[in-house]
Amino acid sequence: MKFFIDTADLDEIREAESWGILSGVTTNPSLYAKIGGKLADFEGHMAKICELVGPDVPVSAESTAETTEDMIAEGRRLAAIAPNIVVKLPICEESLPATHQLAQEGIRVNMTLIFSATQAMLAARAGARYVSPFVGRFDDLGDTGVEHLMEITTCIKNYDWGWWADEGGCEIISASIRGPQHVVQAGLMGADIVTVPFGALKKCVHHVMTDRGLELFAADWEKVKAGA
Ligand code: G3P
Repeated sequence: MKFFIDTADLDEIREAESWGILSGVTTNPSLYAKIGGKLADFEGHMAKICELVGPDVPVSAESTAETTEDMIAEGRRLAAIAPNIVVKLPICEESLPATHQLAQEGIRVNMTLIFSATQAMLAARAGARYVSPFVGRFDDLGDTGVEHLMEITTCIKNYDWGWWADEGGCEIISASIRGPQHVVQAGLMGADIVTVPFGALKKCVHHVMTDRGLELFAADWEKVKAGA
């Protein structure tokens, strides 16, 4: 499974990249607002992320256009920022034809706000390079996100959707991740990718027994040194 980071924060991306685990970056309007992003700087900021991670690492930049024509125009503009830009579009009637057109032009689309297997299959059929089911938002509702993720991964993996064959076809990005348990669930369900906020990514490194074990080793090493 590949790890993406779900953030627009350059420092977080830089640090995750230094761990040697980063295969991609996903952003959205909320994440850009969270870092205090300005409208006029949006494309420049996406360019900075692309430059930071390098040309082989996909960076999802979300379109906020509302019509098919505007989504196509914005998708082309975003894709022109850098070769590793992936255009993020929310699933809706307007975005399916936009995805289809952009895919025919060789522009990758990450179809987001996926909450059902039907949405995921339609996105893949239209030509989406990635589909992003939101796991955590189901759990926020008291529903069980992993069960929906299981349906989506099964339906997507059952077929060759006919697009992006040279890149392995449509990949599933398990999104809306709240913590390590969601990362494990994504792995168990066979998601290709998990996109994780930096805070949750850090939690994935740690375990209370690791911390306890480290303290024990350190204490015993002090004994060794004292006896030397
Ligand atoms: O990439 C978008 C998705 O991960 C958003 O997650 O935390 O806003 O539910 P969240």
